[in-house]
Amino acid sequence: MMRTRPLKVALLGCGVVGSEVVRIMTTHADDLAARIGAPVELAGIAVRRPGRVRAGVDPSLVTTDAAGLASRPDIDVVVEVIGGIEPARALITSAFEHGASVVTANKALLAEDGSTLHETAEKHGGDLFFEAAVAAAIPLVRPLRESLAGDKVNRVLGIVNGTTNFILDRMDSSGAGYSEALDEATALGYAEADPTADVEGFDAAAKAAILAGIAFHTRVRLDDVHREGLTDVTAADIASAKRMGCTVKLLAICERAADGRSVTARVHPAMIPLSHPLASVREAYNAVFVESDAAGQLMFYGPGAGGAPTASAVLGDLVAACRNKLNGARGPGESAYAQLPVSPMGEVVTRYHISLDVADKPGVLAQVATIFAEHGVSIDTVRQQGKDGDAWLVVVTHRAPDAALSATVEALRRLDTVRGVASIMRVEGE
Ligand code: HSE
Repeated sequence: MMRTRPLKVALLGCGVVGSEVVRIMTTHADDLAARIGAPVELAGIAVRRPGRVRAGVDPSLVTTDAAGLASRPDIDVVVEVIGGIEPARALITSAFEHGASVVTANKALLAEDGSTLHETAEKHGGDLFFEAAVAAAIPLVRPLRESLAGDKVNRVLGIVNGTTNFILDRMDSSGAGYSEALDEATALGYAEADPTADVEGFDAAAKAAILAGIAFHTRVRLDDVHREGLTDVTAADIASAKRMGCTVKLLAICERAADGRSVTARVHPAMIPLSHPLASVREAYNAVFVESDAAGQLMFYGPGAGGAPTASAVLGDLVAACRNKLNGARGPGESAYAQLPVSPMGEVVTRYHISLDVADKPGVLAQVATIFAEHGVSIDTVRQQGKDGDAWLVVVTHRAPDAALSATVEALRRLDTVRGVASIMRVEGE
């Protein structure tokens, strides 16, 4: 039976995502009420600049007093779509302390201090839901937290940043260089005026920390994630990947070590074979490939950014939090019981594709091969091209610890016969 007294929701932030949350809450009010079992009332919207509130938002609900709104004792659920660390952290904390549950899209905060938020939620009996923090509309957090809660996840391999996927896709399809592709992404509105968070991998690293934490029941923070952006990826790298039957993607990779005793989380550009499902993820789409013991291989695909797709995930969480409020229940909290150590990048086992500019004379290949052997790195393939005393050697290794691979590259750089290391890229997804 439908309860007539409404559940009250406070919205913190009303930009691209927040205004879509308002639109969906307003236009779908009857359906949301039927699905929850009680009407949902938007009780207040906190913004920094009230003059900028978009059409369709009731001005009488707007306030600049976010702290006052988040701490109102009559609020059932606080939706935080402000982003950043502060004041979001203080507002969320206050919301829990005053009895509300929280729905947030704030990946930076969760990656930096998620455990404290979870502890506060638990202490005060609230839900902390955050589906929108990773890959927007794509259901990923709930499947990992709930649907796969009985399985053992071994690997999460994802394209979790749309801007960088758009740039790499353009470089792949048109042969454009990085700067040209970034300019196109900016002109089309995919890249922000300051694209640093996306192109340097910070955004993807925050998402990797969140995914690794959930997948491996272990606390993983942003600082635990090895991060390399895509600013050094060249048209020559992309062409080289093509020759190998690969494409280049900025991947977030979370892995359980083979012995099961530790985990790793990293973000960097990598070559993946065209036969891998992630290779077909084009433009600004996101996709996450999950490998687990019982389920096997799963792929989650869709729009990973934007107002409406992010609001879709927020609304799903809002419905869940409201249902729990109504039933006096709580959804799943943090699961970090495994407490696995997060190993540094040097211990990650991976493969390298290395392109060397070398002198074309007797003994050079033997010298290069000796360096690999001295570092315990086994060569998979070698290709040579060039003439008239100049040659390119393209070496692809077998799997080896990243520390051994990077030491190999450093030693190669010191060889007189190696004029330059033109490109180094990891090869994943095989
Ligand atoms: N800027 C991100 C992207 C979306 O390009 O995918 C928000 O995380």
